[in-house]
Amino acid sequence: MREDSQFLATPSEAFLGTGASYPLDAVLCGDSRQLLQGLPTKSVDLVLTSPPYFRQRDYGGGIGNEASLDAYLESLLTIFGECLRILKPTGSLVFNVGDKYLRQSLMLIPYRFATAALERFPVRLVNAVTWVKRNPTPRHFRRRLVSSTEPFFHFVVSDDYQYFPENFLRRAASPTPSRQRARIGQRYFRLVEASPLTPEEKANARAALEGCIAEVQRGEIQDFRMKIRGVHSAPFGGREGGRNIHLERDGFTMIRMHGERLKRDVIEMPVESLKGCPHRAVFPEAIVAEFIELLTRPGDVVLDPFLGAGTTAVVAKKHDRRYLGFEINPEYCAYARHRVASVACQTSFLDTVTP
Ligand SMILES: C[S@@+](CC[C@H](N)C(=O)[O-])C[C@H]1O[C@@H](n2cnc3c(N)ncnc32)[C@H](O)[C@@H]1O
Repeated sequence: MREDSQFLATPSEAFLGTGASYPLDAVLCGDSRQLLQGLPTKSVDLVLTSPPYFRQRDYGGGIGNEASLDAYLESLLTIFGECLRILKPTGSLVFNVGDKYLRQSLMLIPYRFATAALERFPVRLVNAVTWVKRNPTPRHFRRRLVSSTEPFFHFVVSDDYQYFPENFLRRAASPTPSRQRARIGQRYFRLVEASPLTPEEKANARAALEGCIAEVQRGEIQDFRMKIRGVHSAPFGGREGGRNIHLERDGFTMIRMHGERLKRDVIEMPVESLKGCPHRAVFPEAIVAEFIELLTRPGDVVLDPFLGAGTTAVVAKKHDRRYLGFEINPEYCAYARHRVASVACQTSFLDTVTP
């Protein structure tokens, strides 16, 4: 570990009280191949990381510029093995690994890594989640398409891994853009006015409409539909039968839409760059948030052994998780610390989840 008195002044508590010398809620500047060895066994709830890609960048030492692909994969697998050791049986490992072309041919590096990890270690691969980059670098190749996806491999070590999809699903739909939000529901006011409802029913319909619009504005629901007696056709059977009763009795019925019903193994998110950030390959915060919310509770420990500009730690802090980050490059370390320090704690929606 590098000497860094600034770091040593910040630690809030010895790591899990085990007597190990690491603090929680800290960014450690050093080589994760050594730093990981100092962590207690079965002490971390989530390892979420993106190791340097093979021969993509020079981060000033560390992993990524090995002489061969095999040597690179071996470095990753050594780190992976240590991450497994420090993972709690209920924990998860999420590794984002990038691909590369060699002599016009895709090397399939992420899948070679995942296959080797499955063969070598007692882990299960829960999902290979695909990050679809909405804004890939606009390069035009004559004989191939623009690469715009990367996998995030979600590994676990037992059937008891923590998993919290419920509240996540309700919030999972992407937020409605504000211009669109301002228009939501407006046409129903006109339809209510023009409908054959009684004045009292119209007043109730307007109030219900305003209530639903406010729920959209507050982000509690994604959208809604309204059916008005004499304007819309009656819904059919099943749950819709219940709506028919409302329609008959009240003159209208509201259908609230909560967002995604299924959480698919795809995350569509633009690539982010941070103003003034020295690091060129940062995680989008929203992707990190998805995994943290899906796989941990408030207070859980999240580790990123390749912290870079500190995104994992920043998002963990914003969601009231404990965090630990390792980064070999002192410039990125300093940036990550500064970035984490400027985050005010927020309360995660998962605070309300009952296990
Ligand atoms: C792809 S970047 C991670 C970016 C990060 N996800 C973010 O959002 O900023 C990988 C990082 O791993 C660091 N690194 C490389 N080898 C390392 C090692 N042995 N120990 C610790 N960090 C290392 C690099 O300096 C680089 O910042």
